[in-house]
Amino acid sequence: MSRESIMSKRIAILTSGGDCAGLNAVMRAAVLRADSLGWEILGIENGTAGLLDDPPRYRILKPSDFDGSVMRRGGTILGTTNSRNPFSYPMPDGSKKDRSDELIATLKSLEVESLIGIGGDGSFDILNRLTKQGDIKFIGVPKTIDNDVSLTDMSVGFDTAVAVATEALDRLQPTAASHDRIMMLEVMGRDAGHIALHAGIAGGADVILIPEIPYKIENIAKKIESVKKGGRNFSLVIVSEAVKTPDGKKHQVVYHGGETRYGGIADYLCVKLAEHTSYEARATVLGHVQRGVDPGHTDRLLASAMGVKAVELIAEGKFGRMVAWQNRNIVDVAIEDAVKDCFTVNPKGMLVHTARSLGISFGD
Ligand code: F6P
Repeated sequence: MSRESIMSKRIAILTSGGDCAGLNAVMRAAVLRADSLGWEILGIENGTAGLLDDPPRYRILKPSDFDGSVMRRGGTILGTTNSRNPFSYPMPDGSKKDRSDELIATLKSLEVESLIGIGGDGSFDILNRLTKQGDIKFIGVPKTIDNDVSLTDMSVGFDTAVAVATEALDRLQPTAASHDRIMMLEVMGRDAGHIALHAGIAGGADVILIPEIPYKIENIAKKIESVKKGGRNFSLVIVSEAVKTPDGKKHQVVYHGGETRYGGIADYLCVKLAEHTSYEARATVLGHVQRGVDPGHTDRLLASAMGVKAVELIAEGKFGRMVAWQNRNIVDVAIEDAVKDCFTVNPKGMLVHTARSLGISFGD
């Protein structure tokens, strides 16, 4: 078949933003579904950054690429980036440049007319702008361990990250009990406390600290002392990385190039807690261990359903949509609606109520 005759059926796919478990499973599902329709999928390497390299970095993805273990593996076989926004691209001399036109021209030269972007809300915002500017059709598949994308009950990668955090609490419990200690686990999640809330309940935490619920050190100490009075010699605390200090400051690290990332709030709180309780407190920062893990069955399932749906939306001629998991089904929503707000924990929601009913303190 000539390039012209299949032109409208050449789809590009890329992963964008931080990696997480389940990205390869999304790609596999999209490639298998596209192949069943006789379409070709072109995998862009390193997110949008791959299109700005000279020569551009991409490869044709075939069903045989996913025959073996790839679907079971964490990470992304295509690579990704979370720091090279094409509208404000960091140049070697330290300046920033709008390279969006260059990127669109490259996509067009590859005869791509629709793009599947596997990303979070930040990536969707960029990809939606880019594809509108270039008149390229766009479908988004939500992935993020933070689970902060609106209008989907779950994003790919979240469930597996929660499993890692829960297992970490399981491993902290025996050592906490052996040493009469408070063990404080710091988890990721950016500005949303979903990982801490879910893992805190599943992993039997005594205290859950999330950015959505302001806390007081004295209240955390009170809970820990009451656990002790009840006859238990240890406490488990889980804290979300974006929890602020009591005076309202973000705990962040500034990396080379001025990029900031959350980190260190658990250590800070351990020192503070020692002033208010008779326990020793120790911090564990889980970090990227929550991302670089093989996907669990829920993420593989979600990824498979979403990858298939993304290709089917293209077949139906529906664009500017994000696939979403709602009420045990795959649906699609407008990208613009999905990126409007960040989905954070509802302090009055069912899971916070569940946690409180179990005696878990939020330090408020
Ligand atoms: O958005 C995913 C996430 O893992 C956040 O939870 C975390 O704050 C951030 O990315 C870390 O980014 P990086 O991989 O650049 O350190």
